[in-house]
Amino acid sequence: MRVFLTGGAGYIGSHTLLEVLSQDHQVCVYDDFSNSEPEALKRVAKLTNRSFDTVEGDVLDRAKIQQSLIDFKPDVVVHFAGKKAVGESTEKPLMYYRNNVDGTLALLEGMEAAGCKRIVFSSSATVYGEPHYLPYDEHHPLAPTNPYGMTKYMVELILKDWCASNVKNTAVLLRYFNPVGAHESGEIGEDPNDIPNNLMPFVSQVAVGRREKLSVFGGDYETHDGTGVRDYIHVVDLAKAHAAAIQFADGHSGCEAINVGSGQGSSVLDLVEAFKSASGRDIPYEVVARRAGDIAEFYADPTKADKILGWKTERNLSDMCKSAWNWQSRNPKGYNSIK
Ligand code: WQD
Repeated sequence: MRVFLTGGAGYIGSHTLLEVLSQDHQVCVYDDFSNSEPEALKRVAKLTNRSFDTVEGDVLDRAKIQQSLIDFKPDVVVHFAGKKAVGESTEKPLMYYRNNVDGTLALLEGMEAAGCKRIVFSSSATVYGEPHYLPYDEHHPLAPTNPYGMTKYMVELILKDWCASNVKNTAVLLRYFNPVGAHESGEIGEDPNDIPNNLMPFVSQVAVGRREKLSVFGGDYETHDGTGVRDYIHVVDLAKAHAAAIQFADGHSGCEAINVGSGQGSSVLDLVEAFKSASGRDIPYEVVARRAGDIAEFYADPTKADKILGWKTERNLSDMCKSAWNWQSRNPKGYNSIK
């Protein structure tokens, strides 16, 4: 199939690019490199020994995204491009609505001009908000508690209406839990632009000596050890979920929301201990106040993904930490030595 990846040079995008190329699809990457590096694409090309098209562009550039889609004639679009920091979204909500919502509208209008009727969308478990029950299944009420999660929720609603408007349209909404880790080669991985918001890249940078110590946001939650519990998923398992979603979209129409998680909850301290074992490095930490907006505990019911995509996670927390350390230790300053 002809696959168009917006944000294909990013953390999850580059891992999905590698997986999709390995399955002999023809690919075009569309990325503005605002939160990614062209070096990631060079490394994927080398790892797979396959070529693919690359267009440097912003999804908000309506003329450019439309022409790129008309030129490439994709069978399916996988839409990664967007802003993804919860904290930043509360400080700059208009930027998040512009990029994540208006950017998706520009993409969909371009897809219509190019006759493309299938999309796999990078959604998030953040759409669920405070748990009414756990694990979250896809019927759980949707009540995001921050602008980032609200943009994901709004795009889900747009795609639901887009599918209802034409029986030939297909949208697979992948609700990610917490993606971590890296490809086994250590050649591609998570490379935050500045101080990492997320736990795993921060722990990795402590281990490699870029950060002094980890601040554990809260030690008094109602969890097994008082620290926050999340459903971590290996980024390679996540990439394989996208490949499965592409295949599913090829044979189905309509709009399907699907949890992409392991179904297992791990605490902050569980991850710290797993990382220490994986890296042989100490991870100094200090328990500090809770982070505003954090939820104590959430994890996925992954049943639907297995049932309709024939997909489930294969890698555990130790695999995630070993692969994250392999990437970080081989690339102490990420893709760009000046970082
Ligand atoms: C995990 C746990 C923190 C950093 C967010 C988004 C989600 C997705 C993933 C985009 C929590 C604790 C963290 C630190 C800590 N993003 N923590 N010290 O908040 O579950 O999810 O990122 O798609 O949509 O909501 O991930 O990694 O930030 O936090 O103690 O320095 O680690 O309190 O319990 P989160 P996270």
